[in-house]
Amino acid sequence: MGKLDGKVALVTGATSGIGEVTARLFAAEGATVVVSGRNVERGSTIADDIARQGGTAMFVKADVCKTEDVQAMVRATVDTYGGLHVLFNNAGISGDTAPTTECTEENWDAVVDTSLKGTFLGMKYGIPAMLKTGGGSIINNSSNSGVVGFPGLPAYSAAKGGIVILTKTTALECAKQGIRVNVICAGTVVTPMVRQFMASNEGMQQYLESRTPMGRLGTPEEFAQLALFLASDDSAWCTGASHILDGGMLAV
Ligand SMILES: NC(=O)c1ccc[n+]([C@@H]2O[C@H](COP(=O)([O-])OP(=O)(O)OC[C@H]3O[C@@H](n4cnc5c(N)ncnc54)[C@H](OP(=O)(O)O)[C@@H]3O)[C@@H](O)[C@H]2O)c1
Repeated sequence: MGKLDGKVALVTGATSGIGEVTARLFAAEGATVVVSGRNVERGSTIADDIARQGGTAMFVKADVCKTEDVQAMVRATVDTYGGLHVLFNNAGISGDTAPTTECTEENWDAVVDTSLKGTFLGMKYGIPAMLKTGGGSIINNSSNSGVVGFPGLPAYSAAKGGIVILTKTTALECAKQGIRVNVICAGTVVTPMVRQFMASNEGMQQYLESRTPMGRLGTPEEFAQLALFLASDDSAWCTGASHILDGGMLAV
């Protein structure tokens, strides 16, 4: 028996990294999965792959910054699979690395729109569908940069900090409605986004490892296990909580 048997799960940013690995784990644990993102080729390949391995999945193209895409993504989920139980608002970009005084408005808008507005839109249109389904679990993807400052990433930190307080607010609004809302604040997890960030910032990998008490960076598989816990009924009494996953970084 899988931990998500009978549940319909929608994962944004599921065409790469944390989202992809989490979508695959959710499917392996019995969920019917909607793989979402903008990259049609990657998304379709991942959904086909899940189906080949015995799961049920489809790809829905959506840009989380666009209201009409998010509405259509939720509608396609409900129309195809009959409801929505789990929503993982994962899509995000780190944007350019530059201090606040040099952060362009374009970079600010792109980063904040993708992470913060995308999470807001996911919940705005996902919650009514979940209510009709009889309740569910929302997992938002923040970062430890949403808890402590990260010099050089002002838009990213602001967006991720916004997701933490948005999660608490929405969790309180939904607490008696059968919908739980939690947020994961992860340290550095080695994904394509992070590989690119480390490649364009010399010495960054060593710096990030040195700031992690456990001495190593995280894996998307480790992240997906926490997302699975929050998606499943194992976390039935968790809501409005920030779940730190960072090899001890924020314990210092
Ligand atoms: N890796 C880390 O160390 C780390 C730590 C803490 C938090 N996070 C967060 O985890 C999430 C995933 O990051 P990752 O490291 O797995 O990065 P990644 O491999 O680059 O994946 C990012 C995903 O977001 C999607 N995406 C980007 N912009 C989008 C948009 N406008 N609409 C829809 N989808 C969009 C991308 O899909 P398409 O290109 O197909 O649209 C891709 O699937 C992000 O929110 C990130 O901030 C990462």
